[in-house]
Amino acid sequence: MKKIFAMTAAAALLGATGAASAQTVNVICSVQAEWCNMIATVYARTTGVKLNMSLKGSGEALAQLIAEKENPKTDVWFGGTGDPHLQAAESGLTLEYKSPSLPQLYPWAQQQAQQSGWKTVGIYSGPLGFGYNTELLQKKKLAVPRSWADLLKPEYKGDIQVANPASSGTAYTMIATLVQLMGEDKAFEYLKGLHKNVGQYTRSGTGPIKAVARGETAVSISFVHDAPQERMQGFPVQTVTPSEGTGAEIGSMSIVKGARNLAEAKKFYEWALTPQAQTFGAAAKQFQLPSNKATPVDANVPDFKKIKMIDYDYAKYGASAERKRLIARWEKDVNSLPR
Ligand code: F6P
Repeated sequence: MKKIFAMTAAAALLGATGAASAQTVNVICSVQAEWCNMIATVYARTTGVKLNMSLKGSGEALAQLIAEKENPKTDVWFGGTGDPHLQAAESGLTLEYKSPSLPQLYPWAQQQAQQSGWKTVGIYSGPLGFGYNTELLQKKKLAVPRSWADLLKPEYKGDIQVANPASSGTAYTMIATLVQLMGEDKAFEYLKGLHKNVGQYTRSGTGPIKAVARGETAVSISFVHDAPQERMQGFPVQTVTPSEGTGAEIGSMSIVKGARNLAEAKKFYEWALTPQAQTFGAAAKQFQLPSNKATPVDANVPDFKKIKMIDYDYAKYGASAERKRLIARWEKDVNSLPR
C-alpha cells in the first residue's frame, strides 16, 4: 500500500514537473539576439516557462505571421518596428488585448495600442540617424554626413549601407520618414540618388551599423540606439541625426490571434511590460527608450530632446495598403535601377 502511494506521489510529482516544463510560449523576437536570449533565460529560470525564440526582422516576422494565418505557430511577436505590427493588427493577424499595465506606459506606447484597436503595444522607442566609422572617414578623407542631403554627395559612393525595406523595419522607417519630410515624389527622387551611393542593402536593420563597426562601410542609416553596443566592444562608431529632421520607431509587441498557448502568452506579455523586464534591454547593451515610465533610463539611451524629430504619422505609415505600396514602389522605382 505504502509502495503504491509512493509511486503515485512520484508519478504526480513527475507529472507536475513534466507539465511545468512543457509550458512554452512561441515567440518571434525582432530585437537583437542578446536581448532575446537574455529574456528567454531569465523567464525560464523565474517562471519555469520556456520561450521558444525565433529571431526575425520586422518585415520577415510579418511575412511569417501572414504565412501562418490559418494555422498559427507563434504566440507572441516581441519587438520590431511598430509599422508592421500595425499592419498585422489591421490584417486580423493579432489579438485584441488591453493590458491593465497600459496606464504605466508613456503616451506614445499607449497611442500605439489605441491606434491598433488594442492589438499591439509600444515596448520601446528610438530615433533614426546615421552611424559612421570615425577611423574610416578620416582615412578616406570624408566629412561626417550631417544631413539627408549630405548622403547624396558623390564622395560617399559605395560607402553607405542601409537595409532592404521589405525585410527590415528600420529601412521602412527611413522611407516613411523621407516621404513625410519631402513629400512622396521628392522622397523617391532622393532614394534614387541615395541608391547610387549604397554599397549594399542588408536583410537586417542592424546589419549596416555592424558593417560600419567592422570597417566594411563608412556610413550606415541606422537607429541611433544600435551604436553604443558596437562602441562598447571597442569599435570606432559614432552617430549623428540629420539636420532636416528624422523619424522614430515605436518598437511593439503583439499577441497572435489563434495563439495556442494563449494564457501563457498573456503572462509573458504582462511581464514584458514591467519595469523589471524592460531593464533587460540595457542589460543586453541595447539602448532603446523603454515604454514603462518606471523603467530606469540608461545614460546610453538617445535623448530625443536634443534631436529634431518629425511628427511621424504612425497610423498612416502602419496602414497595410500604404506600407505595401511604398515598399513595392521602392522595389520598382529604386531597387531595380543599376548602381
Ligand atoms: O534590435 C535593434 C533594432 O534596431 C530595434 O530597435 C528595431 O525594432 C529592430 O532592430 C528592427 O530590425 P529590422 O530593421 O531588421 O526589422
